[in-house]
Amino acid sequence: MKVYIETYGCQMNEYDSRVMASILTNSGHGMTQDLGTADVVMVNTCSVRDRAEARVLGRLRHLRGLMQKEAVLGIAGCVAQRLGERLLREVPGLSFVVGTEQYWRLPDIIESASAGRIAVAVDAGTGESYDDRPRADEASLCEFVSVMRGCNNYCSYCIVPYVRGRERSRPTSSIVDEVANLVTLGASEVTLIGQNVNSFSDEGRGFADLLGAVAGVEGLRRIRFATSHPKDLSSEVIDAVGSIDKVCEHIHLPVQSGSTEVLEAMNRSYTREEYVTLAQRIREGVPGVALTTDIIVGFPGETDAQFRETVSLMKQIRFDSAFMFHYSVREGTRAAEFTDDVPKDVKIARLQTIIGLQQQVTSEVNAALVGSSAEVLVEEPSQKNKELLFGRSRTGKVVVFPGDAGLAGHIVNVKIASASAWTLHGVNPVLS
Ligand code: 5AD
Ligand code: SF4
Repeated sequence: MKVYIETYGCQMNEYDSRVMASILTNSGHGMTQDLGTADVVMVNTCSVRDRAEARVLGRLRHLRGLMQKEAVLGIAGCVAQRLGERLLREVPGLSFVVGTEQYWRLPDIIESASAGRIAVAVDAGTGESYDDRPRADEASLCEFVSVMRGCNNYCSYCIVPYVRGRERSRPTSSIVDEVANLVTLGASEVTLIGQNVNSFSDEGRGFADLLGAVAGVEGLRRIRFATSHPKDLSSEVIDAVGSIDKVCEHIHLPVQSGSTEVLEAMNRSYTREEYVTLAQRIREGVPGVALTTDIIVGFPGETDAQFRETVSLMKQIRFDSAFMFHYSVREGTRAAEFTDDVPKDVKIARLQTIIGLQQQVTSEVNAALVGSSAEVLVEEPSQKNKELLFGRSRTGKVVVFPGDAGLAGHIVNVKIASASAWTLHGVNPVLS
């Protein structure tokens, strides 16, 4: 059967869609990008914020009309895990629901669904990490590899521990094998992903050891990783980022709030001061590092003064960029028991304030790079202007520059000639 998968949400979901594709192709199915001719249409979903979830449910209802009449429609991922059977009532014409730990069962599920038997597989707690799935047979230049899954932190606002389960790490050997295979297939950069990569643990070896092991893969040029929880980012990891050539100088370190009181209510287990100290240590240990973050405004009980502490923290740290959200209640989390008392318009105004501030900081940080040189892994001609090549600096910033399309896939040094809010403009690429 021809299977079409549409993916929403984080990098782990992108990765999981590939896991599903490899399980399905190995059992004789084919993948297609064409919704109109697919026999099976699946949506891999995200439930981290209610907007993401509402959008995905809307999309599912819409898809039914775009598919072949006899094709079956299914939902996978975090929304599937969270809502399970309830989805059958919410989405007319849904034939199967498959949760985050049940992807091995997809071949059977698809068979049942196609035979008219609705299938719901959302059992959890198996500690599944899909280590033994079939190998990839193609790779992009920049790839993602899961190193751990799940989360034990229970930040009070967050649904992830409920839909992704408890933390479990993959064995180092399996990760290194996967990276080596991807490199053989053409990858130059891997991003090691997990909800909380710094709690990676394999028989006493931690994430810093893993970075060392992955760096040993011959032919691999760059290593990135995400996401880091401030409480688990050890000095060994900072040292590894500073000393291992292949590890890029970029740390995504969600702060969530600049107020120690709000951080406590969020169950983040660090204070504002501890975060600031950690950021300083990172900047000392890794010269030129880019620090990026996630911020939530309008958490239950957040006062104006507490919000201003977030603003002042952003001014103090000067993140290279940030993902910013207003709080949304996730049913079943601890914060869902708090009164969601910050009015919607206040949440939106706070969000707009910090988005404006971050845009200004990002522009200034980028402008300060004009005149310096940046190492860029060239991905492809820019979509907006085919004369320009597109890539990322070691610090994760988008760099575009004029150059020969033949440079795609190579690492070059460019001189930064100008900067706009989100993009660096380079000149004179030289192969490195
Ligand atoms: N409301 C708003 N933002 C949230 N995030 C996680 N849960 C919520 C929520 N309930 C944000 C956090 C996290 C990012 C992935 O999503 O900032 O780091
Ligand atoms: Fe959610 Fe906190 Fe775990 Fe991140 S660390 S996935 S925010 S519970």
